[in-house]
Amino acid sequence: MSKEIIVSGIRPTGNLHLGNYLGAVNNFIKMQYEHHCYFFIADYHSLTTHPNPADLHNNVKQVLVEYLACGLDPESCTLYIQSDLPQIPELYMMLNMHANLGELERVASFKDKARTQPNNINAGLLTYPVLMAADIIIHKATKVPVGKDQEQHLEMARTFGNRFNRVYQKEIFPEPFAFNYGNELIKIPGLQGGGKMSKSDGDGNVINLIDTPEVIRKKMSKAVTDAGATEPNTLPTVPVQNLFDIMKLVSTQDKLKHYQDLYASCSIRYGDFKKDLAEDMIVYLQPIREKISDIQQNENLLKKVARIGKEKASESANKTLKECREAIGFRSF
Ligand code: ADP
Ligand code: TRP
Repeated sequence: MSKEIIVSGIRPTGNLHLGNYLGAVNNFIKMQYEHHCYFFIADYHSLTTHPNPADLHNNVKQVLVEYLACGLDPESCTLYIQSDLPQIPELYMMLNMHANLGELERVASFKDKARTQPNNINAGLLTYPVLMAADIIIHKATKVPVGKDQEQHLEMARTFGNRFNRVYQKEIFPEPFAFNYGNELIKIPGLQGGGKMSKSDGDGNVINLIDTPEVIRKKMSKAVTDAGATEPNTLPTVPVQNLFDIMKLVSTQDKLKHYQDLYASCSIRYGDFKKDLAEDMIVYLQPIREKISDIQQNENLLKKVARIGKEKASESANKTLKECREAIGFRSF
């Protein structure tokens, strides 16, 4: 298998949850041993919402800690903090000169914000896809592991890279495409009966990697089910199927089948089912939670990881920027 260049970023907005882990980070762990991977914490992207400085720092630290606890290995991948690379905003600025207002205004994520928060939109939000393109193409990435919601941004990264190549008549940037192992996109459902597990739907909808056993038991006791099956052998309702989907990932297949059979015979007791699922989640997440608390105390490790990541990512970014500067006509005397 030929090695791809892979780039992916995550905005530091709080703690990682089970959805982030099973849907994204878990895949990164595998990819890091098979490809050239650049994983970064997208703190420049956070600025669109004006976080306060202490929160921003703590959130970046927390994601770094949790990434390491999940098994990202800074020796096998390049793990860095976006704001450690001023090369990224330099490329962003260059790409901005060829980004048209109309195409940026048509981006779905921008249109949503412009509609729901018309008094709270800024140029950074408008040009978010340009910054994301810079993140990706600065390492000449060919593959980007992101969810479906990011497909339009990825298409724009291809557009901006191709446009730069065309304007300056140089084949600098290859086209980046979405990437998933086995083409299987998994969506981890939330605990409130519908939709995906997402922190934007409140803490009760997610199981965080740092949640203690007590917190997990409490959240699971409140997880939405239904009024109970009344007819045998009917398909589970969405909230119940959601919990089966989670059970499929954290419990044994025998246990899943046991509860599916109970459901099919209308004899499932949701209280027991949810308690059992909570205990399996606790066991599943325990090693990660323990690592998180160890790494959190280890400032020296974090410093070292950030420094090495910055060095490795800068090397790749500097190479690309040099080509771009030359192509544009910035030449040294
Ligand atoms: P959230 O929706 O909680 O704000 P993010 O949008 O920050 O999460 O997602 C970060 C990464 O985790 C993305 O790659 C995204 O595709 C993945 N991810 C988030 N929630 C889920 C989920 N419920 N199922 C699968 N993947 C998810
Ligand atoms: N926009 C992505 C999100 O909201 C995060 C992100 C920023 C990203 N830059 C990236 C993802 C580059 C992949 C590659 O989830």
